[in-house]
Amino acid sequence: MPVGASGIILNGPVLETALIDKPSALEAIYDPLQYETGVPFELLDRLRSENAVLWVDEHALPNWPAGKGFWLVLRHREVGQVLKNPRVFSSALGATQLLDPPSGEDLRYVRKMLLNMDPPRHTRLRRLLQNSFTSRAIKKLEAGIHDHARSIFDRALQQDDEGECDFASSMAADMPLLSLADILGMPQEDRYLMYDWANRVIGFQDPDYKVSDSFDQSCASDIAREALKLRPQPDAQGNMPNPRAKSGMPDLYRYARLLAEHKRQSPGEDVMSILLAQVDEEGGQLTIEEFENMFWLFSVAGNETLRNGIPGGMLALLQHPQAMQQLRSDPGLLPLAVEEMLRWWTPVMIFRRTAAQDTQLGEALIRAGDKVVVSFVSANRDEEVFDNPAQFDIKRSPNPHYSFGYGPHFCLGAQLARTQMQAIFGELLRRLDHIELAGEVRYLRSNFQRGVKYLPIRWRRK
Ligand code: HEM
Repeated sequence: MPVGASGIILNGPVLETALIDKPSALEAIYDPLQYETGVPFELLDRLRSENAVLWVDEHALPNWPAGKGFWLVLRHREVGQVLKNPRVFSSALGATQLLDPPSGEDLRYVRKMLLNMDPPRHTRLRRLLQNSFTSRAIKKLEAGIHDHARSIFDRALQQDDEGECDFASSMAADMPLLSLADILGMPQEDRYLMYDWANRVIGFQDPDYKVSDSFDQSCASDIAREALKLRPQPDAQGNMPNPRAKSGMPDLYRYARLLAEHKRQSPGEDVMSILLAQVDEEGGQLTIEEFENMFWLFSVAGNETLRNGIPGGMLALLQHPQAMQQLRSDPGLLPLAVEEMLRWWTPVMIFRRTAAQDTQLGEALIRAGDKVVVSFVSANRDEEVFDNPAQFDIKRSPNPHYSFGYGPHFCLGAQLARTQMQAIFGELLRRLDHIELAGEVRYLRSNFQRGVKYLPIRWRRK
C-alpha cells in the first residue's frame, strides 16, 4: 500500500508519476526563487492532469525553512470544496499562510485577523466590516478611484508626447495606496508607509523588498512620525524581524493604534471611522486589537495584490497585442478583460487551510491537523472549467476564476479592486495610442504573490 510522506495512505495514481521518484521536482512549487523566473505552469498542468490533490514534502531550501509538508489542491472543483467548508478546512487552526506563524503567541495574535478566523467569530467581524462599506461610502470611493487614475497619468506622462517608464512603479503602485488611504481615512501623505509595510510582509524572501524604505519622512503626519520611531532596523546580515509576527511590524501596529484613537475622538466619513463606531448584536464594539489587525490586513491585502495585479494585466496586453487592439476598438469589453487579466495573472497564487478533522478530498485521505494549500494559479487553468486555459481571451465568459477566493472569505475588496483596474486601463487606453515592452521584466521572489517588480514600457500619447 503506497504511503505518503505524512504517513497518510494515498489512493489512485499519485505514486505512479515519475515525479514521485524525484520529490525535489516538487520543490519548484514552494521555492520562492522559482517565481523570479515564472510560475511552473508545465509542472502544475501535469500534476493537475494526474491528481486533484497531491502531497508535497517541504524540504529546507536556501530561502525556505523545512516544514511538515502539505496537501496541494490543484483542481477547480476541489479548491471550491475546501474554500466553502470552513468547518472541515479551518482558516484559524494554523492561520492561512503556507509558513506557520513563528510561535504559539504569534498564532494567537494573527487569529484576531478576519482572514484567520472561522465562523462564528468570522461571521460577526465580517458583518461589521461589510456594514461599514455603505453604498454612500462606496460611491465616494469609486469616484475617488477615477480621479486618482487621472492624476496618476497626469504625473507619469507630464507634458511629453512619448517616453519610457517603469509601469509598475510609475503607473500601478500608487493606485492602491491612494484608494487605501481613502478607505482607512489616513492622511494621503502617509500612504507610502503602506508601500514599505507591504514590501516587508510580502517581499520577506526578496532582498530588494525586505528592507523597503521609500517613505518620504519630510511630509509625514504626526501619527507617522510617532510610529516611525519604532521602525525595526535590519540585523548584521541585513535581515528584518519576521513581519508575520506582531513584534516584526511595531511601526505598523503603532500607526494603527494612534489612528484608531484619533478616529474614535474625531470620526471622519471613511470606512474605518464607520467601522469603529459600529455596535454588534451583543452591543460590543471593535476592539483596538481587532482594528490593528484590520489595518494590517487592508494595508497589505488591498495593496500588494493590486500592485501586482495591475502590471500582470499590462503584461497580458503587451503579450497579446490583438487583445489590446480589440479593447481599443471596443472599450465596452473592459470589465470582461479585467476578469480575464485576473484569471490569467492570478496575483495571489495560493492560500492555506488546516484540516479540522479527518476527511477525503479527491483521492487523498487527509488527517486532522494537516496543512491544505489551495492553488488558485492551478485552478484558474483547469481545463475542465476553462477552454484553452493558457490563452488570454478578453471575451471569456463565464469566467469563474478564483483570484478573489471563494466562500465565506471571498475578497471583501473585489469590487473596489475591479474598479481600480478598470480605471487604470481605461485611462491608459484613452491617453496612449502605442505601448510596448522596453526591456526585461523583473518578478518578485515569492511563492505567495505573483509579483512584478519592474515592467519597463515605451509609450506614445494619442
Ligand atoms: C487584485 C486585487 C486583489 C486580489 C487578487 C485579492 C485576493 C484575495 C483573496 C484570494 C482572498 C481570500 C483569502 C482566503 O480565502 O483566505 C482575499 C480576502 C480579502 N481581501 Fe482581497 N484581493 C484583492 C484586493 C483587495 C482589496 C483592494 C481589498 C481592500 C480594499 C481587499 C481586502 C480583502 C479582505 C479584507 C479579505 C479578507 C476577507 C475575509 O477573510 O473574510 N482585497 N483577497
